Amino acid sequence: MARLGLVGCGQLGGAIGRALLRAAFVAPGELLIANRSGARAGFEDFAGIGWTTELQALADASDIILLAVPPAAARGLRFDAAGKLIVSVMAGIGIAQLSAVSGSSRVVRAMSNPAAEIGLAYSPFFAAPTVCAEDKSTVRSIFLACGATDEVPSEDQIDVFTAVTGPVPGFVAFFAEAMSAYAVENGVDPVIADRAVRQLFLAGGRLLVDSSATPADHVQAMIDYAGTTAAGLNDMTSSGVARAIANGLEAARLRALTIGKPEAG
Ligand SMILES: NC(=O)c1ccc[n+]([C@@H]2O[C@H](COP(=O)([O-])OP(=O)(O)OC[C@H]3O[C@@H](n4cnc5c(N)ncnc54)[C@H](OP(=O)(O)O)[C@@H]3O)[C@@H](O)[C@H]2O)c1
Repeated sequence: MARLGLVGCGQLGGAIGRALLRAAFVAPGELLIANRSGARAGFEDFAGIGWTTELQALADASDIILLAVPPAAARGLRFDAAGKLIVSVMAGIGIAQLSAVSGSSRVVRAMSNPAAEIGLAYSPFFAAPTVCAEDKSTVRSIFLACGATDEVPSEDQIDVFTAVTGPVPGFVAFFAEAMSAYAVENGVDPVIADRAVRQLFLAGGRLLVDSSATPADHVQAMIDYAGTTAAGLNDMTSSGVARAIANGLEAARLRALTIGKPEAG
């Protein structure tokens, strides 16, 4: 079994680390975790994990290194892991920078989210051209333990997914809040509105996942049915809601392009 070094075990790194332990992708004795503070919260159930505050010690002892520190912290990271497989889930840190940080050309840039904790993350990845098929298969196994994954053909698509699927519940919470607020404005008790909308998103998510129909197919079917929902969808379409959503996601994607760079000024 390959030895895995996890750098950063906060919200995302912690969720991925525990998912990999639960899936037996790595045994506790084959996992080494680094952070600066020595904090071990969240891993109390797993005896035998190695802990360090020394990045180079982690790099020396690991075959695969998974980077999950905040983008601003990534700028200051430096260790020698030449020839080792480096996987990053950090927003805005490109392949070239990951190579510079680690001294390795076996570099994979991914996006994931903390739903990894419950096996529901979506984790697309882009591999540097020199990464071999066996390494890609290892990366696929890592992210299948966290949920669903795809290899994408260009690095800039990772920035797109940083906007679309990086945050969870992310924009879905925004849409849920808008629907809940509408119900409250129309006299519904906020507690009931909250329960109703949570149940709606649970059911909507389940139906979208379990059905072979695409989201667009569902929308068209509701328009074709020509009932109350069609009236709402026609109004939303003509008032440009889809464009507003695209604009918001674009703002998030553009922020992903700068979040790993030093602030100007
Ligand atoms: N959270 C999300 O929803 C989410 C979603 C998608 C992508 N991401 C990406 O995941 C990465 C981690 O985000 P997060 O939310 O998990 O952050 P977080 O909760 O703040 O955790 C950051 C972790 O990194 C450690 N750390 C910070 N600086 C370090 C350094 N110089 N050397 C070693 N360890 C260091 C921290 O521990 P110490 O403070 O003890 O060092 C902590 O364990 C980010 O790059 C982010 O873009 C996060």
